Amino acid sequence: MPALFTPYTLKDVTLRNRIVVSPMCQYSADDGVINEWHLVHLAGLARGGASLVIAEATAVSPEGRITPGDAGIWTDEQGHAWKPVVAAIKAAGAVPGIQIGHAGRKASANRPWEGDDHIAADDPRGWETIAPSAIAFGGGLPKVPRAMTLAEIERVKADFVAAARRARAAGFEWLELHFAHGYLAQSFFSTWSNKREDAYGSDFEGRARFLVETLQAVRAVWPENLPLAARFGVTEFDGSNDLEEGIEMVRRFKAAGLDFIDVSIGFSTSTANIPWGPAFMAPVAERVRRETGLPATTSWFISEAAEAEALIADDKVDLVSLGRPLLADPHWPYRAAKELGVDKAAWTLPAPYAHWLERYRTS
Ligand SMILES: Cc1cc2nc3c(=O)[nH]c(=O)nc-3n(C[C@H](O)[C@H](O)[C@H](O)COP(=O)(O)O)c2cc1C
Repeated sequence: MPALFTPYTLKDVTLRNRIVVSPMCQYSADDGVINEWHLVHLAGLARGGASLVIAEATAVSPEGRITPGDAGIWTDEQGHAWKPVVAAIKAAGAVPGIQIGHAGRKASANRPWEGDDHIAADDPRGWETIAPSAIAFGGGLPKVPRAMTLAEIERVKADFVAAARRARAAGFEWLELHFAHGYLAQSFFSTWSNKREDAYGSDFEGRARFLVETLQAVRAVWPENLPLAARFGVTEFDGSNDLEEGIEMVRRFKAAGLDFIDVSIGFSTSTANIPWGPAFMAPVAERVRRETGLPATTSWFISEAAEAEALIADDKVDLVSLGRPLLADPHWPYRAAKELGVDKAAWTLPAPYAHWLERYRTS
């Protein structure tokens, strides 16, 4: 059996293979409440054979949405709406996961296909953004956020905790904290966006504090027997936050109870020099995994079956995460299995499919 199709167990959760659906915003919710599109999208990816389906960045508060269409989980109604999605993912044999986050200074934006920029100041659809410091991201995101008060920092941590509780109540079995991509948590860590001089800024300890405290608070309510993961930008590729700092941060996460790390990019500045290319984050993830001892995944341009197989077989990462390749072909895992010579269809698909496909392929 190719390594990519061997099961993986973390705490009480067992995945049928090593292929993860990376969280992908659909920007299609109404007032944070998800709908049939989210069900079709996520259940379809589960049916395609991925083992862990992580639902999109879901906002812990209204001002934490990237766009007005983002999914939310700050009300019970929103939490409830996830239940059929969770059930459908499980019916297709995958494990349901969710990413919770707050967009910080990148919030109040138009959907990617409607501009991907900040909603105009005079447009009533927009809202005030908050961040560690009153510094805009720049470019198409020029809105200057308001620097958070200490009371607001406490409130957002509590929002993460409430979101984690609702995620569990909806039935999710894998929780990912969105600490990456220049959104609120990453912006506390980044020297680009955090110029605070209080306990939540000024030095490494200060820049780490919001992330570590949020993680600790969530860990206290998220069941010990279920994986708690985080997605974190360990590097900006611009020399501002070096990788050593990012790795030290992941060590802190581990000490605070994190079970799994999705190694990603900071995206705190539009001037980074990111070395885009096939699986370019894999060596970074491998290093983070080796130096912290935390199980890890990464994404970004992993699109070939053989490439994904090598990452697992060579023990570089524990899981591979795919985004766009799965949008292009939700049955990517099934196709990858064929390409890698798996001769039993039953490795991933529920019996009503596996039975027929096994015959079909051997006839
Ligand atoms: C439509 C779309 C939405 C995305 N939304 C999120 C998100 O909600 N949270 C997140 O951490 N990353 C998000 N990403 C990044 C993906 O999870 C993934 O890391 C990225 O697409 C790189 O992987 P790929 O090369 O396999 O697509 C999104 C990407 C796409 C294409």
